[in-house]
Formats: sequence, structure tokens, C-alpha cells
Amino acid sequence: MYRIGKEEIDEITKVIDAVDLFKINNGLQESKQVETKLREMFSVDYSVFMTSGHAALTAALVSMGIGPGDEVIVPAYTYIATAMAVVLAGAIPVLAEIDDTLTVSPEDIERKVSPNTKAIIPVHIQGFPCNMDRIMQIAKEHDLLVLEDACQADGGSFKDRRLGTIGDAGALSFNYFKIITCGEGGALLTNNKKVFERSMIYHDSSAVLFFGDQMNDFSTEGFCGSEYRSNELCAAVLNVQLDRLDDILSDLRRNKKYMMDQLNDVCRFIPSNDPDGDCSTTLAFLFESEEAARRFSTSKFINGCLPIDTGKHIYKHWTPIMNKRGALNPLMDPFRMEANKHIVPDYNENMCPITLEKLSKVVYLNVNPDDTQDVLNKKISIIKNAILKG
Ligand SMILES: Cc1ncc(COP(=O)(O)O)c(C=O)c1O
Repeated sequence: MYRIGKEEIDEITKVIDAVDLFKINNGLQESKQVETKLREMFSVDYSVFMTSGHAALTAALVSMGIGPGDEVIVPAYTYIATAMAVVLAGAIPVLAEIDDTLTVSPEDIERKVSPNTKAIIPVHIQGFPCNMDRIMQIAKEHDLLVLEDACQADGGSFKDRRLGTIGDAGALSFNYFKIITCGEGGALLTNNKKVFERSMIYHDSSAVLFFGDQMNDFSTEGFCGSEYRSNELCAAVLNVQLDRLDDILSDLRRNKKYMMDQLNDVCRFIPSNDPDGDCSTTLAFLFESEEAARRFSTSKFINGCLPIDTGKHIYKHWTPIMNKRGALNPLMDPFRMEANKHIVPDYNENMCPITLEKLSKVVYLNVNPDDTQDVLNKKISIIKNAILKG
């Protein structure tokens, strides 16, 4: 989260004054406005605002028809929630290596496709856009569905198309750590009416049938799903945050580009599948070795972070997945289901060595959209010092 203030307070106050916090209402309709704004800003036919990015990922997978017997390819470098959504849908996550961009390697996706593969989840990690051209091509060749995890990439793009709108469905997150926030929240984006209808039912199965006219022109019948319905307070905040999004991205991009331009002659950065579409939240410095990366990261005033140290973003720390504990009740556990018996992989710590190696040679520094030229120049001089001394 980068910016929040009086505008959000004013919008929340309006909702509290109206005393109607439920998503479906005849008053302020903040949630409805969020969904309209998302459709317009992201140029998609359908959007569903819900409680989290994980909810959006799970709803999308279920609605795309993914379930027991299916493999879903996910990158070995993503937050654990991506892989857990696959398990929650009853399917089995298959891990793919990342490439130099730190996003999923299209070559490794191709290697991991099997007769049981039903979908790919490219993750635009740290706001770095995946190579969506290659991924969509592979999906077409192998008749696979694509769910974009854009939870760390709200508003970013690949070749001028917003992340989350290129595949069959996309998921955004608005938790506190994301580019924009409403405390906790998420959204599903799609152009597929069937996926939309099913997601509407799945994310709010006990209410969607009974409140308002939400299912008036649905051809999908109600089924038992979950309760991932959001509320007017979160929607009020998100409405303001969505209005801020493009300015935040433009300031992040300006500041990241300035720093990279000034530093290009003294250090290397990871390549990008689309530098203009990158959310630019992160400067990613590339080093020859982990030792050199650590030296830089711990230099005076640098406060860097190696992505290899980011815990639950690295597959080997996804303890419940690695231990194949897919549910509390064994009969509900996809890793023990009869339908999955033949596809449960032998997860182990060393199964994606390329990912581990790449993540250990990079140092992340945060970009601040509100840094002035003066502050940027000071930061650049500190970084140059650390690099030249190292
Ligand atoms: C890549 C990725 N996917 C999914 C999620 C889940 O989002 P949420 O916390 O909103 O459920 C996150 C959250 O950190 C994430 O970083």
C-alpha cells in the first residue's frame, strides 16, 4: 500500500452514515461501483469483488471446471496461496521453474505439461509481467486454461493489456501489502460468462440466490460454494484506491526508470518481459553469486532483501504442500483422493534447483512513488557506493 488518507475516510464515513454495510443495497452501492470500475479500468466483461486474492483464485479455478484428477502448473516462486488455491479446488499443483525474469519459465511449463494438465497459473510476481505471449501460445497448443495470478501486480500490463485480463481469468489482491488496498480484498476478472456466473455463485453461495436480482439472467444453477462476499466498508476504501491506482503506477515507473538509468553503468538488473508494463514496485539487482548479493544487500544504508529469503514465496517453504497435507479431513484431501492417486508428485526441497539458484543471486530494493528527485539522487549515490566498494 502506498497512499491512503482523507478521501478513504470520507467515503467510509458516507457508508457508515448510510448504515447499510451489506454488499447488496439500494443506497450507495459501493461494491457495485467497485465491480463497474474494475470492468472499465481493466476492459473486461465481468468482475467479482470478494474477500481476498486467494478467494478469487479458488473461485476462478472451481469456475473453470478444475477439480480432482487435474494437474495445474504453478511457478515454484509465488506466494503459497497460489498453490493452496489449486488444492482447495481438489486438483494437484505441479511446479515449474522460473527464468531470468523471475517469472514462470515458458520452457519449463512445456516440459511439465502432461495428459492430466488442465490449467496454468502464471504469477506476475513482484509486479513483473510474465511472458503472456508464450504462455497463451502453449495453452492454445495443449488446450489448457490460463488463470493469471496478478495479486502482486494490480494494474500492471503486458504489451498494453492489463495483467489478469489476458488469460481465461485473472485474480487481483487488495490486502495491506499490495499496490492498492482495502485492508483485505480481491477480485476476479474474466470475459467468460460461464466463469463469471459460477464465480458469483461459488463466492457467495448462500446469499447470491436470495439477495437482489443477481442471478436474473444466469444459465447456471445454484450449487454449494463458499462465503467470500465482501462488504461496503471495504468497497468504499477500494473505490478511492482504484482512482489512485494509475497515478501510483505512473510515479513508481518514473522513479524506477530514473534509478535504473542512473545505475545502469555500475550494476545489472534482471530482464523484464515488458519494462513498460512492470508495476515497478521493485528494483531487482542481479549479481554473479549469492555471496556478492548478500554483500550488497547488507551494505550500509542498503536494507536489501534477497528473494530467496522471502519464506512462503519459495516452494520449499510451502510446508503443507511439501508434506501433502491438503485438508484436515483425509477424505477431503486432494493428495489422498482416488482421482488423484496417479498424479501426486514427489515434492522435495531440491525439485526446482534453477529457481533456488536464480533467487539467491538477486537483491530487491523497494521503489517509493513519492520519492523526490533529491531523495532518489541520495539513494542512487548510496547504491553506487555499495556496489563500487563490494
Ligand atoms: C502471488 C500471490 N497470490 C495470491 C495471494 C493471495 O492474496 P490474498 O492475501 O489477498 O488472499 C497473494 C498474497 O499475498 C500473493 O502474493
